[in-house]
Amino acid sequence: MTTESRLSMPLGETIYSLRAIRRFKPDPIPDSDLRDILEAGIRAPNGGNAQPWHFLAIRDPEIREELGALYHEAWWAKRKDEGIDGPEDIPPGKSPRRSAMRLANEFGKAPVIILVCATSKGQGAMGSVIPSVQNILLAARALGIGGTITTLHRQVEERVHRLLGIPETAQVVYCIPLGYPRGSFGSTTRKPLPEVCSYDRWDNPIT
Ligand SMILES: Cc1cc2nc3c(=O)[nH]c(=O)nc-3n(C[C@H](O)[C@H](O)[C@H](O)COP(=O)(O)O)c2cc1C
Repeated sequence: MTTESRLSMPLGETIYSLRAIRRFKPDPIPDSDLRDILEAGIRAPNGGNAQPWHFLAIRDPEIREELGALYHEAWWAKRKDEGIDGPEDIPPGKSPRRSAMRLANEFGKAPVIILVCATSKGQGAMGSVIPSVQNILLAARALGIGGTITTLHRQVEERVHRLLGIPETAQVVYCIPLGYPRGSFGSTTRKPLPEVCSYDRWDNPIT
């Protein structure tokens, strides 16, 4: 069987049940599934087919733990940039922000973390890796594996590069923790089409 035939979930179901998964079971992801997910990633469109990307899949638990600590620091560094000093500043109740905060505590426990890197620092290379992220998440979803998109912060950049042997010329664009969901996949909440789409002119909303 090929990756193509293993990713057989209907596209509609895959798209409509893909949501951010931030809590994971500890069960490992089989290498064959991880390979399929990466194969899907490298099929993505990219500028001029230059493929200025590198996908670093972290499975080793000790490296994940170290990366998890750096991710935690990065998450809070980003919050500090927004004027948020600690958990007491984050409103209680269910929200993506609170879930993201919990993920920051548990990041290193995700069975696999894929670092989606650009092989150069420019905006062009960064833009070229973005479509691969959706391919990765859709392929993972088709295999019953969840994840979400996350970013680091310049405060930890040098240490992340040193930890993982990432060349100075490359950049980590996104980090995608992956695992079998604790909780379920499901529908997402989005603004209705007429609010965000139009035909022919900006002020001619789809009705
Ligand atoms: C550029 C970008 C950055 C994101 N950063 C984070 C993050 O740091 N932590 C996190 O938990 N989720 C992050 N997300 C995931 C979003 O919070 C999530 O896609 C959004 O809330 C919609 O979630 P849903 O698909 O479950 O409705 C990011 C998504 C994008 C596209």
